[in-house]
Amino acid sequence: MLDPCTFVIFGSTGHLARTKLLPALYHLDRAGRLTDDMAVVCVGRRAWDTPYWRDEASKILQAKLGEALDSEVLNRFRGRLQYFRADIHDEEAFKRLQEVLETTPNFPANAVFYLSLAPTEYRPVARHLADNGLSEETSGWRRLVIEKPFGYDLEDAQVLNHSLHRGFAEQQIFRIDHYLGKETVQNVFVFRFANLMLEPLWNRNYIDHVQITHSETAGIEDRAAYYDGAGALRDMIQSHLLQMLTLVAMEPPAILDAESLRDEKVKVLKSIRPIPKSAVHAQAFRAQYGRGRIDSREAPSYLEEEGVAERSTTETYAALKLYIDNWRWRHVPFYLRTGKRMARSSSQISIRFKHPPQQLFRETQIAEIPPNWLLLGIQPEQCLRAELQVREGGIGMRTRTTQLDASTCTQTGYRLDAYEALLLDVIEGDHSLFLRYDEVNWAWQVVDPILKVWSIERDFIHTYPAGSWGPKEGDRLFEREDQKWRDSLMEENR
Ligand SMILES: NC(=O)c1ccc[n+]([C@@H]2O[C@H](COP(=O)([O-])OP(=O)(O)OC[C@H]3O[C@@H](n4cnc5c(N)ncnc54)[C@H](OP(=O)(O)O)[C@@H]3O)[C@@H](O)[C@H]2O)c1
Repeated sequence: MLDPCTFVIFGSTGHLARTKLLPALYHLDRAGRLTDDMAVVCVGRRAWDTPYWRDEASKILQAKLGEALDSEVLNRFRGRLQYFRADIHDEEAFKRLQEVLETTPNFPANAVFYLSLAPTEYRPVARHLADNGLSEETSGWRRLVIEKPFGYDLEDAQVLNHSLHRGFAEQQIFRIDHYLGKETVQNVFVFRFANLMLEPLWNRNYIDHVQITHSETAGIEDRAAYYDGAGALRDMIQSHLLQMLTLVAMEPPAILDAESLRDEKVKVLKSIRPIPKSAVHAQAFRAQYGRGRIDSREAPSYLEEEGVAERSTTETYAALKLYIDNWRWRHVPFYLRTGKRMARSSSQISIRFKHPPQQLFRETQIAEIPPNWLLLGIQPEQCLRAELQVREGGIGMRTRTTQLDASTCTQTGYRLDAYEALLLDVIEGDHSLFLRYDEVNWAWQVVDPILKVWSIERDFIHTYPAGSWGPKEGDRLFEREDQKWRDSLMEENR
């Protein structure tokens, strides 16, 4: 059972709160993980009250969970919800909030403040909380959850961090990257460090290269105001994809606590070879979706999306080639790519092994043996798959590729959502799956030179048809012709 706490959500009427936070809290309630007295205070500026909000929240959960919604749990969950009407720019509101939190009978003294707000609001809200004594841990603990993106660039992240630390100690701050809450992402860690047989192969001697892909069929939907100023590199690579890279590349920590884990991730980020301005074109590629077809429906180009600037060169596709200059990974390229309006929605890590040192079968019907791959599906399929070569039955020497699936591929049943896992960790005070500031800082250092070059090159951007895997021109990142993007976990689609 967790500590009792009052869970305060700023931005409770927004997309994240509706789609992730409320359902996650409901599921934790259903699983019996919340104490009886836990309260959920939902801050919103709309002229609503608690009974109205309880009905609204029930509709949100009903729409999301359908028949899986349990009426008894819903009743209990509704009882936890309180609506607190406030404009976050009104300092008086924080005084009232402080009073409500301290004087309402049955509200536990421990409190989480979850900032599910636009990134520009993190600083003022954290400051108001601190100015009104809400960060002080006199009667219970106080924790602040910051959503991604943490900062707009390296400098902005530094300013934000400095500002948060005026009111909150590092131990009170939880910087979320919800990818780290995904079960398969955590499985990368278990897969690597619970299976001794992999360790001797997990280095530059055997691995040819690593690919990390996150693709979405969705466009920017109604997020032009945010996305047109951000782009794919900031939105996905600086955070989620670099986090996945650290898990693939890190050394085993001495012990399994939050600091040791994060120390090892930081070492990886620090070892990424800086990209000088002169190498940006060789190591980074960007593009933007044009018109195309998704699921046999016409899709508009990025420039036709509502709210996008007329001649915007914001990238909706970004790919990078990175090198980690340490003993384990020297000279092994890590290729990262992400895109919107791509052919399929998926996240996967694909690790390609080198060819055997001798092509023993050269004189047979086998022209060239395909290399081994290790595939880690993050979403929608969660799986671990190894591709090996076996002999084809019949006369002569032929081989075919076969896949060994780890059981997670076929496992069915309930899976813990990333946000459920992370909210539990916040309440338990476990920082392992949250970003320490130096991680964020080093991740910004990786992408910052690219952002700087792209920000002045605003006259041209490659395009790709919506519904495709991105432009061919992006293949120039590959070191050799036999390297190409792996789009699928399935062998036949290569
Ligand atoms: N949505 C996702 O799936 C997702 C995923 C990962 C990270 N994030 C991050 O999570 C954060 C929230 O994203 P979101 O998509 O939920 O944004 P959103 O839908 O725009 O929600 C923003 C929330 O802030 C509230 N708000 C704005 N100004 C306010 C004010 N002056 N006083 C009180 N409340 C105010 C809005 O209230 P109104 O409803 O009254 O406008 C709304 O509830 C962002 O930092 C985003 O980057 C979101």
